[in-house]
Amino acid sequence: MTPTPSPAVKTIENPYRPGAGHKPPFLAGRTQESADVERYFDQEQILSNIVLTGLRGVGKTVLLEELRKPAVARKWFWVGTDLSESASVSEENMAIRLITDLAVVTSGFEFKTSLPPKAGFTSEPELKATRLDFHFLRERFQEAPGLVADKLKYVLELCWEATRNSGCRGIIFAYDESQNLADQTAKEQYPLSMLLEVFQSIQRKGIPFMLLLTGLPTLFQKLVEARTYAERMFHVITLDRLKPVDSEAAITVPIRELSFKFTPHGIERIIELSGGYPYFIQFICRESYDLVMRGENLDESRLLSIIAKLDSDFFAGRWARATDRQRDLLNLIAELDTADNEFSVQEIVEVSKRAGRKPFSGSHVNQMLSSLSGSGLIFKNRHGKYAFAVPLLSRFIKRQAE
Ligand SMILES: Nc1ncnc2c1ncn2[C@@H]1O[C@H](COP(=O)(O)OP(=O)(O)OP(=O)(O)O)[C@@H](O)[C@H]1O
Ligand SMILES: [Mg+2]
Repeated sequence: MTPTPSPAVKTIENPYRPGAGHKPPFLAGRTQESADVERYFDQEQILSNIVLTGLRGVGKTVLLEELRKPAVARKWFWVGTDLSESASVSEENMAIRLITDLAVVTSGFEFKTSLPPKAGFTSEPELKATRLDFHFLRERFQEAPGLVADKLKYVLELCWEATRNSGCRGIIFAYDESQNLADQTAKEQYPLSMLLEVFQSIQRKGIPFMLLLTGLPTLFQKLVEARTYAERMFHVITLDRLKPVDSEAAITVPIRELSFKFTPHGIERIIELSGGYPYFIQFICRESYDLVMRGENLDESRLLSIIAKLDSDFFAGRWARATDRQRDLLNLIAELDTADNEFSVQEIVEVSKRAGRKPFSGSHVNQMLSSLSGSGLIFKNRHGKYAFAVPLLSRFIKRQAE
């Protein structure tokens, strides 16, 4: 499938980057999705925030990082990080998270407060300039009256007052892994609801602070469950697998300068086996590259051995967490024609009746799907149907069954 490389290229480092958030050697496709997001960078008043969602490994983190450039070019300040579960422990934690991120930008600005007039003088009050660093913001947060939401709004408004004359358009709060956001009803802590409420309120006042949240497909549902108006607050952009032409570019462009190439058949097979999912493309190409560098030929059996490695590196850990009965159910789902898209409880019940083994009842399927959602293998989509949360899971399940 690939000619052996000449010794001259032996030293070149493998360019492919399977990983979490690792910048790919070539970012293929995504022009439409980027343009869709960038339209919202032109808003004067924030009428819509953005949710960028998609399955594991589809390229959310990488695209989010890429969007920083056009945002900064349009004079946005860009703040944010990965949202860990700890940000969602309490409202206060959420507020501190935002203040910490905001301070990275605002510490370059000063805030002027008047000092108390000195005795005996009637002159203008003296002004004291203080940097809006984390300490300053945190003190203002602590002394502001009201609930955590009020305190946070106060700090955000103050930050806008201090930065608005700098020529910046506003601030984008870009949060990755936002599916970790959650209210903690049992502990009477509502960090997610508070976040939405605070941004809705300051945006209504005309403050151009925008949320750009990325996360797994459960994210939008979570936002709407916390606050129904979230449906109107966010524009949702879903990242899907790459189109064949873009998959081909992701495979071929990184080795364009080298003396060996994948054959057309090889490219076709990699596109098929990866399903166009960026992580799988990087994985298969990286392994293939190493093989070729060792002087081996990338034939069908070696490609299948790469898939076996993918199974053990990527899928096996997730599969190991499922119980036997859950695996029975997942096997049935993988049989459905619609397994790679979406499926309903009814469809699963029907296939289970036909399968000949102990069938699943509707309520049992419901219950198991919800526990599988908890373990991140399944999610409920916007139409109330279910889907696999991991790309190409159905193919893996079928391979296991074989
Ligand atoms: N457009 C693209 N072209 C080529 N490779 C890409 C592209 N997007 C992402 N990748 C590669 O795919 C892999 C996964 O990307 P990334 O970590 O951004 O996905 P993700 O959606 O954030 O995954 P997760 O849900 O696990 O956070 C990385 O190795 C990255 O280099
Ligand atoms: Mg990511």
